[in-house]
Amino acid sequence: MPSLLQLAVLALAAAGVVRAQFSQDNPQYFPNSCKTPGQIAIIFTDGPSTFTASLISNLNGATPTKNINLFPVTRFLNDVTVSAPLKNAATAGAFVGMRWTTTVNLTTLTEAQITKQLSDDCSLIGTVTGKVPKYIYLSRGDVTQQTYTIVKNQGYTPIGYNLDSQDYLLNNTDADTCLSSIRGSYDKVLSAANPASSSFIALERDLLQCTADSITAVIGLIQSYNFTLVDLPTCLGDANPYRTSCTAGAVAATSSASRASTAAASSTRSAAAATTAAAATTARAAATNTAAAGAPNAAMPLSYSVFNTIAAVAVVGAAFARL
Ligand SMILES: *[C@@H]1O[C@H](CO)[C@@H](O)[C@H](O)[C@H]1NC(C)=O
Ligand SMILES: *[C@@H]1O[C@H](CO)[C@@H](O)[C@H](O)[C@H]1NC(C)=O
Ligand SMILES: *[C@@H]1O[C@H](CO)[C@@H](O)[C@H](O)[C@H]1NC(C)=O
Repeated sequence: MPSLLQLAVLALAAAGVVRAQFSQDNPQYFPNSCKTPGQIAIIFTDGPSTFTASLISNLNGATPTKNINLFPVTRFLNDVTVSAPLKNAATAGAFVGMRWTTTVNLTTLTEAQITKQLSDDCSLIGTVTGKVPKYIYLSRGDVTQQTYTIVKNQGYTPIGYNLDSQDYLLNNTDADTCLSSIRGSYDKVLSAANPASSSFIALERDLLQCTADSITAVIGLIQSYNFTLVDLPTCLGDANPYRTSCTAGAVAATSSASRASTAAASSTRSAAAATTAAAATTARAAATNTAAAGAPNAAMPLSYSVFNTIAAVAVVGAAFARL
């Protein structure tokens, strides 16, 4: 019979593995809320479209344009009727990220193909907006830990969300249905949240008339719950939310210092893990560390995950040895 202590140890070890598991809902890999409680940022993915232009003009001073965070798809950007709304929004101050191209499943590509797609998309957005995106929105279900690491190593920060407006269900709805449905999505989450302790990144798509038509209602609703709408860089506390060029190493200067210290911290953790883990596992952790150190902000989550897994395996092993 395993003792109560042994069961407790097993449960803790299992919890450690689950917490570190790679997933698009794991904020260690995909930041999905703001640093400061009470803040909310809305990301608009899947545009641009004529509704991007309506979204900006409908603001009417309800919030500064910089609080509109656009994650454009590049597929149709060579068409000026599609690129103009994006260009105008960026000129008006909208924040510009990048959305992984919706028609290509990331997991089916080689590293070289991913690198090329990222570079092409980044360049096109740079040409249209004059900004070099650093934040990227990856399609749900289209990313493995391996492809995630490739994207990070190219200098991008994948972004998540913790509130889905579900506006994609509201194409061609009448105005009342549009408003009540989108308000419902926000109400459900915000009514249960405390601005003193929670924060949000909300997901919308600037591809639908409802998204553009409901923006001031959404802003009013957010304010009525005492949350503050902010731009994504403010939400994430990032003073360098763009890169200097679309090549892999081009990250803003101030982040390299923190990157170096994060890498140092994670090697310390790996060293500790090595004392309890088998040599083969240690080698794997070292390999991951090396890869992660080259990626801005990647070192922490990836090596944390490896550390956790190693620690869990070691603890479970020790517990069974004592049975
Ligand atoms: C992308 O491809 C992977 C691997 O073939 C598959 O598991 C996943 O479901 C695909 N994603 C989508 C959104 O179809
Ligand atoms: C919305 O409906 C229109 C007309 O039926 C269609 O052309 C458009 O592609 C739809 N948009 C989305 C995002 O599904
Ligand atoms: C928002 O703050 C005001 C002023 O502090 C307070 O009266 C109100 O009850 C708050 N509203 C919500 C929904 O918490």
